[in-house]
Amino acid sequence: YTAELDASDIEKGTYPHFMLKEIDEQPFVIRNIIQKYQNEDGTVRLDDNIRQAMSEADRIYIIAAGTSYHAGLVGKQLIERIAERPVEVHIASEFLYNMPLLSENPLFIFISQSGETADLRGVLVEIKEKGYQALTITNVPGSTLSREADFTLHTYAGPEIAVASTKAYTAQMAVLTLLAVDTARARGIELPFDPLQELAIVANAMETLCGQKDQLEQIARDYLLTTPNCFFIGRAADYFVCLEGALKLKEISYIQAEGFAGGELKHGTIALIEDGTPVVAVATQAHVNLSIRGNVKEVAARGANPCIISMEGLDQEGDAFVLPSVHPMLSALATVIPLQLISYYAALHRGCDVDKPRNLAKSVTVE
Ligand code: G6P
Repeated sequence: YTAELDASDIEKGTYPHFMLKEIDEQPFVIRNIIQKYQNEDGTVRLDDNIRQAMSEADRIYIIAAGTSYHAGLVGKQLIERIAERPVEVHIASEFLYNMPLLSENPLFIFISQSGETADLRGVLVEIKEKGYQALTITNVPGSTLSREADFTLHTYAGPEIAVASTKAYTAQMAVLTLLAVDTARARGIELPFDPLQELAIVANAMETLCGQKDQLEQIARDYLLTTPNCFFIGRAADYFVCLEGALKLKEISYIQAEGFAGGELKHGTIALIEDGTPVVAVATQAHVNLSIRGNVKEVAARGANPCIISMEGLDQEGDAFVLPSVHPMLSALATVIPLQLISYYAALHRGCDVDKPRNLAKSVTVE
């Protein structure tokens, strides 16, 4: 597999939809990233200039939109925990209106599949004028955001055609992991795990998950065939993947979906729970397993139809789906796959145009 553009990449082959093909490509994309960023001695290799900019910055500002913003939320946690640098994540379209007080030596990271999103470009132009440095993480080197930034990291996911982003998201998180690891090494910080080994385990888990389509299709049928709405709840790292799971479902199936931190639903939105309302609970983090399951009981007591997605070792009887075990800091890369597939099958069986949902564009080049 290569991430270079060739004819087979932009054709569906035997797949009914690009989205399904792109979901299935994720294990290969992660292995491709490992290969591209691996040194001969098995360590991670990034650009020296990027390493220097990351180590010298006193604060990192991640700017992104949509699915890339959700990758940024995971990236913040990875960079803060692994490289011990403070990170803020901002929605691109709001950044200039609600500009935070910047640190003395900031580094800006723009995350964008297309590299063309106008909301991000607005911020890039403004911060370059102020003389700050920018790194773009993109699937399209040579794109506007890549050309205008000081540095680029390529996500090597290959062309993504379906409007709903799937493999670009997991590729962004894999590259953010390597960025965090490289920065930690440069700063002499001990790594919490062997990144290339753990990412290889993620790729294997992804392959297993892509082989469980029948089970995930059945979940979509059981929970999402007729419902007008759906909630996703999770705590800690699972919260971020819930935001992405809800966005995926909204984008392609038009089901009104919202992602919540496990403890937050009860502060208002629980009022919307009725008999049969589907609540997808993601439970892959040991330290919050009890509390998220407590939240499931709260909604179930109000009539919700809970669908628990857990991870091997944390699973309990009655869970709707159990993921193979991966490192808890990398769980979003695996957990998103069942959420992507459930959304895909929900959209398919509700008769929606999966690859080209109404009102959406693959890349939004207007503000
Ligand atoms: C559009 C797409 C989304 C995407 C967002 C950001 O709204 O429909 O899928 O996440 O733009 O795109 P980018 O190319 O900057 O990652």
